Order: sequence, then structure tokens, then C-alpha cells
Amino acid sequence: MKLAGKVAIVTGGARGIGSGIAKAFASEGANVAIADLDYEGALAASMKFGESAFAIKADVSIKIDVETMVKSVIKKYGRIDILVNNAGIQTVMPFLDLSRKDWKRVLDVNLSGAFLCSQSVAKEMIRKRINGVIINISSIHGYIPRSTKLHYDVSKAGLIMLTKETALELAPYHIRVNCIAPGIIDTPMNQELLRDPEKRKMIEQRVPLEKIGSADDVARAALFLASDDSSYITGAALPVDGGLSLNYNGLKPVGSS
Ligand SMILES: NC(=O)c1ccc[n+]([C@@H]2O[C@H](COP(=O)([O-])OP(=O)(O)OC[C@H]3O[C@@H](n4cnc5c(N)ncnc54)[C@H](O)[C@@H]3O)[C@@H](O)[C@H]2O)c1
Repeated sequence: MKLAGKVAIVTGGARGIGSGIAKAFASEGANVAIADLDYEGALAASMKFGESAFAIKADVSIKIDVETMVKSVIKKYGRIDILVNNAGIQTVMPFLDLSRKDWKRVLDVNLSGAFLCSQSVAKEMIRKRINGVIINISSIHGYIPRSTKLHYDVSKAGLIMLTKETALELAPYHIRVNCIAPGIIDTPMNQELLRDPEKRKMIEQRVPLEKIGSADDVARAALFLASDDSSYITGAALPVDGGLSLNYNGLKPVGSS
């Protein structure tokens, strides 16, 4: 059991990648708090893991929600060893049409949410002298530009720098901070795109490993970063993308000129 006795918070853990990470952590012995805007979903996900999980309603972009989330985990388990900043949203909008409201909401959830959760949890880890772990879920679009998702991609680029800076500032407390940069993962976030068999095939052809990723693919990387297997790794951005970032060429299928 790689995480026996550990306590983890997974934000956005009601479904998709977060739910996969919660499952992987629980199956390695961790107690997992599943924090999500969607309380019903978080509750349903937590029930799958029995006693070792519980659900919390929280909007990561709201400071009081984050503070309440941290307090309730401390109250239930007495400590926090691992935080996964996974909650995220995505909308599609060309730059010239992007409203201040859309820009702000995506940045608030994806980037400010991770900042608020990291700060609040890190203070608890330091207070209890816990050699904790923080994992941020970024994206390959934190370093590869494309069209129509500027706000999302900027938030994911910000997460990579948040990772590096917090890794530096928290290293003296033996708290490690890393991030994962997924490629295209089959989750509810992508359903509209992946439901279309032609688009799905086109995407598969663009991935060097010739398949779309699963939540479990990301969860295995998160387990590695959460466990002592990565005890000398901090400030890293790990692509989990089947090689897509090596071969990304805009919207054209692989092999086209
Ligand atoms: N699916 C992909 O291809 C992909 C690729 C790269 C990165 N990511 C990132 O991985 C993370 C998980 O993505 P997913 O595909 O599982 O998405 P998803 O939409 O399937 O799940 C996201 C979860 O986050 C929750 N959430 C949304 N806003 C929240 C908020 N303000 N506070 C708390 N919870 C909130 C949702 O309720 C949902 O349960 C996101 O940060 C996403 O940007 C996903």
C-alpha cells in the first residue's frame, strides 16, 4: 500500500480525472476527501470507496469554501498529506469575442482555486510538520498554444508556474509540488468532441501512442507523484499525453502537410 495512513484532498473529484485519482489513492490505502461543486456527484463517487472517502461541497474559487473544506478534513482525519488541485472548467471562445466574465470565471476556478487550496493546505501541513505533497493538474496547453481556448490555456500555463514557485517556497518545509500535463483524456469534459466517431479517430491518429488517454492513465501518474516513489522530485511538469505534445501540429491530422 503506497499511501497507507495518508489523507488526501482531491478537488473536482466527483467525476472524470479527479474521480480516477480518488479511486487510485483509496485503493492504495489513503483516506480521500472528494471536494466538488457538484455535491451529489462527490457523494456518489465517495460511496464507491466506502469508509475511506467522504464528500465535501466546495467551490475552489471561493476562499471561505476552501477554508471550510480544509477545516472539515482536519476535523475528520486530523491531517492532510496530499492535495490534488484537479477542479477545472473549460469554455470555447475566440480571443476577439472572449468576455471579461468568461475570462475571469475560468481563471478563478482553474488558477485562483489552485492558489487558494495550495495556500490553505500548505499552512496546515507546515503547522503539523507534515512532509506533504501537492499535485496540480495542468494541461499540455499550458505550453502549447492553439485557438479558441486562450483563457483556459493561460490558466494552465499559470498552474505550471504556480507549481514551480510553490515548489521552491515550500521545499524548506519538505513539501513537494509537481504538476501533471494531460493530453486528451476521455472524460465528461470532452464528451461532445469524443462522441463524434470521426473526430475521435482524427484525434487518435494525432497521438503518437495512437489512443486517447483515460482517467486511470492520469491517476497512475498522480499516484507516483503522491507516493515516496517520487520523493526527490519537486517542481516538475509531467506530460501524460501519449506523446501528443511531441507531435502537436495545430488542427491538422498527423501526416498531413
Ligand atoms: N479531459 C482532458 O482531456 C483534460 C486534459 C488536460 C487537462 N485536464 C484537466 O484535468 C482536470 C479534470 O478534468 P476532467 O476532464 O476530469 O473534467 P470534468 O469536467 O469531467 O470534471 C471536472 C470536475 O470539476 C468540478 N468542478 C468544476 N468547477 C469546480 C469548482 N469551482 N469547484 C470545485 N469543483 C469544480 C466539476 O463539478 C467536475 O466534477 C481539469 O483541471 C482539466 O482542465 C483535462
